[in-house]
Amino acid sequence: MKILLTGGAGYIGSHTALVLLEAGYEVVALDNLVNSSAESVVRVDKLTGGSVQLVVGDLSDQGLVESALRDGVDAVIHFAGLKAVGESIAQPLRYFSNNVSGSLSLLRAMDATGVRTLAFSSSATVYGEVERLPITEDMPLCAANPYGRTKQQIEQILVDLAGSDDRWHIALLRYFNPVGAHRSGRIGEDPHGVPNNLMPFVAQVAVGRREKLVIYGTDYPTPDGTCIRDYVHVMDLARGHLAALEALPDWPGAHAWNLGTGRGASVWEVLRAFERAVGHDLAHQVGPRRPGDAPVSYADTSRAASDLSWSATHSLDDMCADHWRWQQDNPDGYPG
Ligand code: NAD
Ligand code: UD1
Repeated sequence: MKILLTGGAGYIGSHTALVLLEAGYEVVALDNLVNSSAESVVRVDKLTGGSVQLVVGDLSDQGLVESALRDGVDAVIHFAGLKAVGESIAQPLRYFSNNVSGSLSLLRAMDATGVRTLAFSSSATVYGEVERLPITEDMPLCAANPYGRTKQQIEQILVDLAGSDDRWHIALLRYFNPVGAHRSGRIGEDPHGVPNNLMPFVAQVAVGRREKLVIYGTDYPTPDGTCIRDYVHVMDLARGHLAALEALPDWPGAHAWNLGTGRGASVWEVLRAFERAVGHDLAHQVGPRRPGDAPVSYADTSRAASDLSWSATHSLDDMCADHWRWQQDNPDGYPG
């Protein structure tokens, strides 16, 4: 089986490429490298002894995507997209164009070439503020920012597409908070600019690239006052894609699955766990809340467990230890 990974040079894409190669799949990565480096693919090859075919190009280049698909591709995992919430508020047209129009172009190419099996990178952000916990897949979707709305709109397009033609088999994979890195420390998350997310920020404080962590609010209605999230190890997430690909032949239509651990950790708990990994305290201060942050978010993962036979296995300490190994060995991310 040959799988096309759009955005395959990125953080989650590169870890998934590794897992797929190890499972015996052939992998083609199509990436415009807007937020990644070709070095990640080189390292996946070295780690696995396999070979990812990298196609440098844009999702919106339908001809290029069609020719990649015609080269024996059986299924697509669609990671490619822009993902910074603040940037999406400042540049909504860029986000809707890249994420939504780019996805439409990919879907036209898939339809034209008869490749109709797809796993899509969605996000827990599509749920917005929820009334009940844990979050189940049947809860209403109410994304609260342009980035999240691109995910919600793409999901809707995929549901309508699958409704029009039962040859489509589509997984809407709603990731919670992906963190960590491959155990080797050779591949990991390499955010460009100032990291928006908690763990990459803490990791950059630990390695000396940032002065201190600012904790966004300690007055939330949670046991220690800081927000709670469902952090999931990127290698567990990568295995989740393999599980989805293997299950999809039995699932005509479009189906949503949460990918998380089902357990929440607070900002304080993440900071303490990272300090354990590093072996000393990390500089931090308490700041005001970040607008738009939900107090608590964690997944009900029972649907993925029963339908995909997938569940996360790594602890928060594993996530921090692996994230730290990557950051320590690559303080400035990938070279170049
Ligand atoms: P990433 O930025 O590392 O990977 C995305 C990749 O897509 C990058 O390599 C980028 O260069 C590429 N890309 C973007 N637009 C493209 C285009 N038009 N054509 C070709 N390539 C393009 O991000 P990631 O963390 O690996 O996320 C992968 C997917 O998962 C994204 O769709 C993201 O929205 C989604 N997601 C991520 C998280 C997270 O916290 N990391 C959480 C939920 C969902
Ligand atoms: C953010 C995005 C969400 C996206 C998710 C991907 C926002 C509003 N939401 O969510 O759309 O799907 O990332 O993983 O940006 N924190 C700090 N200090 C920091 C950074 C974060 O205290 O420097 C806190 C945040 O307030 C939050 C927690 O850490 O409570 C986790 O933050 P983050 O990693 O950004 O994830 P999400 O808030 O879940």
